[in-house]
Amino acid sequence: KRRSEVDPESLAPSETLHKLSYPPTTTPTASKPIPFQQPSTLLTFSYTPDRVLEFNNSAMKHYVDPPQGAELSYGYDRWIKRPDEKGRIDHLLKAWVKVRGGGSGGGIGVVLWRGVMTKILIAPYEDREGWDLNVMCINGTMFFEEHLWDERLKEKNDMAPRQRTQTYYGYAFESWCTSSNPKRPEALPGHRRGWGGDVDTNVQWCNVIKTKLGDTRMVIGGEVDCVRGDYNGRNDNLVELKTSMSIRGPQDEARFEKKLLKFYFQSFLLGVPEIVVGFRTPNGKLTTIQSFKTLHLPRLVRGKPGAWDPSICLDWGDRFLSFLKGHVGQKETAGPEPKVWRVRFVPGVGVSASLLDEEGVKEVEGGEDRVGFLPKWYWDEEVG
Ligand code: A3P
Ligand code: MG
Ligand code: MG
Repeated sequence: KRRSEVDPESLAPSETLHKLSYPPTTTPTASKPIPFQQPSTLLTFSYTPDRVLEFNNSAMKHYVDPPQGAELSYGYDRWIKRPDEKGRIDHLLKAWVKVRGGGSGGGIGVVLWRGVMTKILIAPYEDREGWDLNVMCINGTMFFEEHLWDERLKEKNDMAPRQRTQTYYGYAFESWCTSSNPKRPEALPGHRRGWGGDVDTNVQWCNVIKTKLGDTRMVIGGEVDCVRGDYNGRNDNLVELKTSMSIRGPQDEARFEKKLLKFYFQSFLLGVPEIVVGFRTPNGKLTTIQSFKTLHLPRLVRGKPGAWDPSICLDWGDRFLSFLKGHVGQKETAGPEPKVWRVRFVPGVGVSASLLDEEGVKEVEGGEDRVGFLPKWYWDEEVG
């Protein structure tokens, strides 16, 4: 029986259940801060409108200032929306194999998408939504994917009209703020001046970076919105774009400061140094834009009503990965039967990890050509 409601005990027999309790959000548990290594770019790739992965920068855009008062509802009817899908790791593995060449990958402990790592890190401040991950370990490297229940996926795809509109505002902002030319906004025939082109959410530019949290080397992939000026092959002039409702009072301000935590880690993890926020009216009219330096956000919120402390998150993240290494890493996935772990986060409680039974593994494979959640081609390459 499937349930979208999270219950740490509902997963599996207790002998395979391991738990990591939640850290307090006010005091870090480590005596000194957990180091996080400056992320460096390994490789970039693009998705075409047909959702084909290409190892080039065809989907890369340049930042330009948006027109004043731009309408974020512009082009809504022409939005080509990529359906929400399971957060499979296939394309990241493709990139990872390419980066490694013939080599072994050199002590990489974790490979995952940026969105998954963000969720893990901000868990100490998440009091509403739980999540499930699937984890496998091969030759000392742990692979993560978000486990989306079928219902949750359907829910995401059947977005309420109002929510759909608001989601579109975010993409329209990206279009108003980007150009194929580093020096000037687009002037596309038949469109309002400065419109970067109709939104097609199939098209994405992704960066794959390496970094290290505590003792764990990681490879992380994620979408990057644009580049300021010319691209130099590094991540030091990348820009993340965000929209948010205009701030009209202290309550709005606290809400915004809370939201900055997610903005922060999303950008921090890939080494994106700048976040441009477009403030908008409820109806999608752009009011102002403000640029933030990613690394300055923690001190901007310090002592405010919506305050958070990134060292709490890094501390938790380090404990989380060590916890998994101690359990998942002890049962290597090798052998004919893949071992897949389900990691469940319950807000205010912590995480639990349990080994899936045969039926659980089948569900993860979803009738596709997979071993656990890993594509068969990757499995064959690694395990043989
Ligand atoms: P905003 O965040 O500006 O609203 P990203 O900011 O990660 O590049 O994502 C671009 C846009 O995709 C977001 O713009 C938002 O509209 C939409 N989006 C991203 N993640 C989402 C989520 N979890 N749920 C709904 N919409 C999301
Ligand atoms: Mg984006
Ligand atoms: Mg963005």
